[in-house]
Amino acid sequence: MDGLFKMKVHVSLGERSYDINIEAGLMEQLATMKEFKKYKKVIALTDSNIYRIYQKQIEAAPFLKVIQIPPGEETKSFAFLQQVWDHMVAIKLDRKSLLVLIGGGVIGDLGGFAAATYMRGIDFVQIPTTLLSQVDSSVGGKTSINHPQGKNLLGAFYQPKAVYIDPNVLKTLPVNEFKSGLGEVVKYAVIRDESFFEYLRESASDILALKSDDLIKIIAKCCTIKADVVGIDERENGLRAILNYGHSAAHGLENVCQYKGVFHGQAVAFGMDVEMFIATRRGLVLEKDFARQRAVLATLKLVFSVPSFAMDKYLSAISMDKKNTDDCLSFVLPKKIGEVVLLDNINYEEIAESTKNTLRCPIFN
Ligand code: NAD
Ligand code: GLY
Repeated sequence: MDGLFKMKVHVSLGERSYDINIEAGLMEQLATMKEFKKYKKVIALTDSNIYRIYQKQIEAAPFLKVIQIPPGEETKSFAFLQQVWDHMVAIKLDRKSLLVLIGGGVIGDLGGFAAATYMRGIDFVQIPTTLLSQVDSSVGGKTSINHPQGKNLLGAFYQPKAVYIDPNVLKTLPVNEFKSGLGEVVKYAVIRDESFFEYLRESASDILALKSDDLIKIIAKCCTIKADVVGIDERENGLRAILNYGHSAAHGLENVCQYKGVFHGQAVAFGMDVEMFIATRRGLVLEKDFARQRAVLATLKLVFSVPSFAMDKYLSAISMDKKNTDDCLSFVLPKKIGEVVLLDNINYEEIAESTKNTLRCPIFN
């Protein structure tokens, strides 16, 4: 039987500090949450998939209204932001109201931005329901919508009042969505914590079997790492960039695949392989660590067949958000498992060469 029921992680940001509460079964307690009692008007935003599965729990909560939108990245748009605002205006939310976000990163990003902008900012609470949102997007206060010209182009840094995480909800999550989160979990281990990396290796089968204790441990560890980083560098002026390890090449791949057919966590696994190889070629990291990272990705079943793509389009997609000076780009590269460094002199030839090396690896074809 699982024995570890709850953990708390504190995000220390002065007057914007908050707790991340991780507990199996929290979704069953929506009706009695103390946090909601502090507000006169409490409304919720969720997507129709989550509403369908958790209607009973959501309807039992004291929400004045539940705004439901369709699932999917397309709703991180101005049109849906306007819809959310319209509901907030119609129900006459005031500055002392609370918006509760129940969903994955899409609901969290869109709803967080709605909370940040309505009457110059009202309180909101995150109840993340995907592994990715539980270990990453619900923590740290990045809120946004997309613009036709780019992802997350419009947004604000705006912290929630609290985060409530129920690992049990991952049992209804499609397996590929779970793996999307696992890519981020490996990222946290490689950038910051070698013993966590070893734990992931040893516990892979329990994690993949969704054992509650292991889920609580990995969520708490990732949130602790993110809370530490955000506590030092809330607005990404420096250190916070390490959370982008693996994401430069991942974004290039997602872009050339037009965000279809490759889950984010798979793209991050691909990106970590490309970026670790660059570090290996530069003599920054030992080949044995590169092999260890590959072994963990395989053990956690982050394997997939990378669709074929044009290298020039991929490189230009990477350069769009990573351009530094002349022909060089900024990348986060590992020095060892548990430590990374930000370098701004990565050239296109080494990215192309490393990418070809990754594409030859059995994990990615
Ligand atoms: P998502 O929100 O689209 O959710 C994925 C799918 O899973 C959806 O179809 C949803 O309906 C479904 N779902 C969610 N929870 C479920 C559950 N418990 N059971 C069954 N189905 C469930 O995707 P995501 O991966 O959570 O988030 C991706 C978004 O997060 C992207 O827009 C990305 O830009 C953003 N993001 C933001 C940050 C940040 O710091 N703000 C960090 C990383 C990613
Ligand atoms: N997901 C990266 C960040 O929050 O900074």
